[in-house]
Amino acid sequence: MKVLVIGSGGREHALCWKISQSKGVSKIYCAPGNGGTQQVAQNIDMDPNDIDGLLKFALDESIDLTIVGPEDPLAKGIVDRFEEKGLRIFGANGRSAQLESSKIYAKEFMEKYEIPTARYGRYGNIDEAIERLKDFQYPLVIKADGLCLGKGVVICDTKEMAMETLKAMMEDRIFGAAGENIIIEEFLEGAEASLLCFVSQGRLIPMESAKDYKQIYEGDEGPNTGGVGCYSPSEHFNEELKARIDGEILSSIELGLKHEYLSYNGVLFIGLMLTERGPKVLEFNVRFGDPETQVLMPRLESDIVDIIQKAIDGNLTRGGLAWTGRSCLTVVNTSKGYPGEYEKGKEIKGLDELGQHIIVFHNGTEVKDGRLYTDGGRVMSITTLANSLEEARDSIYKDMDRISFDGMYFRGDIGKM
Ligand code: AMP
Ligand code: GLY
Repeated sequence: MKVLVIGSGGREHALCWKISQSKGVSKIYCAPGNGGTQQVAQNIDMDPNDIDGLLKFALDESIDLTIVGPEDPLAKGIVDRFEEKGLRIFGANGRSAQLESSKIYAKEFMEKYEIPTARYGRYGNIDEAIERLKDFQYPLVIKADGLCLGKGVVICDTKEMAMETLKAMMEDRIFGAAGENIIIEEFLEGAEASLLCFVSQGRLIPMESAKDYKQIYEGDEGPNTGGVGCYSPSEHFNEELKARIDGEILSSIELGLKHEYLSYNGVLFIGLMLTERGPKVLEFNVRFGDPETQVLMPRLESDIVDIIQKAIDGNLTRGGLAWTGRSCLTVVNTSKGYPGEYEKGKEIKGLDELGQHIIVFHNGTEVKDGRLYTDGGRVMSITTLANSLEEARDSIYKDMDRISFDGMYFRGDIGKM
């Protein structure tokens, strides 16, 4: 069978890598892919948002299954368009993608179905928003409603900072229409964890847990990024917590998906804060995470294509997923300047010197004339499986410095608890 993966990051490389181990697959295309995906797939130079072009490609090439990585094409309705033409595609439809593309929509969904989350207010008028700041203690959290490439969430320690943030989003419109409406939210304290679920006709089948590192600098300092390190499983996920998440969160989400006609076949990524008062939902994404996918795919023992086929047919069950009990850790190296403006086009060296047990998933690389160059803010996810998190960490950090490119940076504390 022929599979098309849409996207160009480490997530898509990890998906292509896992799909390439699937017995029934004869050909993998990745649109547009990167310097790493081309080791296991054929890169197709197409924009993930060019839905007409991708649809034509899938029809012309008789693609049997399409898997969508990034949120933008999902929010633009790529799944609806493919399904209209009778094509098999794995991802949230346009209606369901609102769970990610509108934070207000997601919060109202959580409120309606009594899914534990931070207390909040929603505002479309700056004077009202400033007036209501008094309902919250500091620090408080201000979130732009729409998609802002991960930059739309600001934790405010003081009233001055909150007023500045509201002005920037609502008056100066630094995020355009995405910041016209905003949320003010109670700050939650605790450990964060990512729980990705396969969605099979609206039923949730949880994957293993993961812990993402969002800030660029060690000790969780500095601005937020897309994620610069990750490991699985999270040490907090014992049987008691899993049962609590099932009973208090997953079952309510399933009920909501059904009642709101949001049922789909794809992935629901639940961002959790594990607070003293129990797990609470920070956000939803309707896609695989990056770098979460880079630590989940190596731990998944079952065939990913088989899982996705079953999910689309509505037959996927928890018994259909087998995971290794080993730990997986990834450390992402980044280009100088990231998460701000960053450099590109630096030659990457040293990959052939890495130990056998290291898997390199490429986030932003490009091959030109047989050489490998940086082509993104996040460059590569250096990954390994080991018997413990400590072992995985030791083994990765021994090899991290063998890789080099001009301006390379990575955190030295990924996997240290
Ligand atoms: P989000 O895009 O909503 O997940 O927010 C991005 C990051 O901001 C999260 O991963 C958290 O680290 C932080 N964050 C968001 N909401 C809250 C909250 N209510 N309390 C504390 N931290 C938060
Ligand atoms: N690592 C977080 C995300 O994929 O949004």
